[in-house]
Amino acid sequence: MNAIEVENLQRIYRAQIGVFNRSIKEVTAVDDISFEVQQGELFGLLGPNGAGKTTTVKMLTTLLIPSKGAARVGGFDVVRQANEVRKRIGFIFGGERGLYWRLSGDDNLRYFASLYGVAPEVSKKRIPYLMEMVGLKGRGNERVGGYSRGMKQRLHVARTLLHDPDILFLDEPTIGLDPVGARDFRNVILDLQNQKKTILLTTHYMFEADALSDRIAIINKGRVIALDTPEGLKKHVSDLSVVEVETFGAAETVVEKLRALSFVDALSVEDREQKQMLLIQTARGAEAVPDIMSVLDGQRVGRVIVREPTLEDAYVRLVGGAS
Ligand SMILES: Nc1ncnc2c1ncn2[C@@H]1O[C@H](COP(=O)(O)OP(=O)(O)O)[C@@H](O)[C@H]1O
Ligand SMILES: [Mg+2]
Repeated sequence: MNAIEVENLQRIYRAQIGVFNRSIKEVTAVDDISFEVQQGELFGLLGPNGAGKTTTVKMLTTLLIPSKGAARVGGFDVVRQANEVRKRIGFIFGGERGLYWRLSGDDNLRYFASLYGVAPEVSKKRIPYLMEMVGLKGRGNERVGGYSRGMKQRLHVARTLLHDPDILFLDEPTIGLDPVGARDFRNVILDLQNQKKTILLTTHYMFEADALSDRIAIINKGRVIALDTPEGLKKHVSDLSVVEVETFGAAETVVEKLRALSFVDALSVEDREQKQMLLIQTARGAEAVPDIMSVLDGQRVGRVIVREPTLEDAYVRLVGGAS
């Protein structure tokens, strides 16, 4: 049995707009998506803001009713058997509140354990175990208000593991964490993977999806546009190299000229403070550099490197091509 099965799921939001001439505006946030997640798999949902990731997770965690289609989690239907689903899942949404800042970490867990109906003799052992697992050993007596953002996020994970769910939904769990906090958090996720939990992780950080996921669905505008292992996704661009050119105030017309070159497959521009990084995907590799430099003649150019494509480049090509 698959841990998660999603069949032609759709969700339309209806919002009323206008005060006098009322009309209904429909947004199709999730548009006919299907995928399966095996038991023990870490499945990444990757996509830009507004792609429909949170809406999907909310339907799978029974917080939102689908407009069409069906989904089963742990073998139970998310609409008709919502209570059975809830017993078997844990979820955290990025930047979520829902901890008591005036209470200590341990007291928070004791409170939620009683709320979830975990027997006291079970939680007595489980709370120290979970605090150690999420790297908060020895910090349980401190008030949560004094925790760093990363510590709070890890306490959220401990909270969601109190009833020992098999299936976890983590919606952008590292958003807003500093690099060290995000790395500590990823180690907790690796730990959960070793415990054979099924995890559905949404993120818009490419390297995070690449490092953690067994398989990834890339979603854009409510649709799955690619579904594969990280390696499989990279094969979409394995015929290409990426030429990275650092520029300082390169004119838009010059960028367009580069984009129009016959051997340029895709070009994206990343703004980094005073400078820009032009990321040029081309099958010609290093041989493309002289032609690129001649288009850039007269512009201020810094470092130029040629490198292998990453998952991010595959994503640029897939999402760029679909919009
Ligand atoms: N409550 C809502 N009412 C109306 N539109 C919404 C609501 N929530 C999300 N949307 C819209 O649905 C789309 C998908 O949103 P969301 O699932 O939050 O995407 P993501 O999590 O990938 O950023 C977006 O266009 C968003 O504006
Ligand atoms: Mg979201």
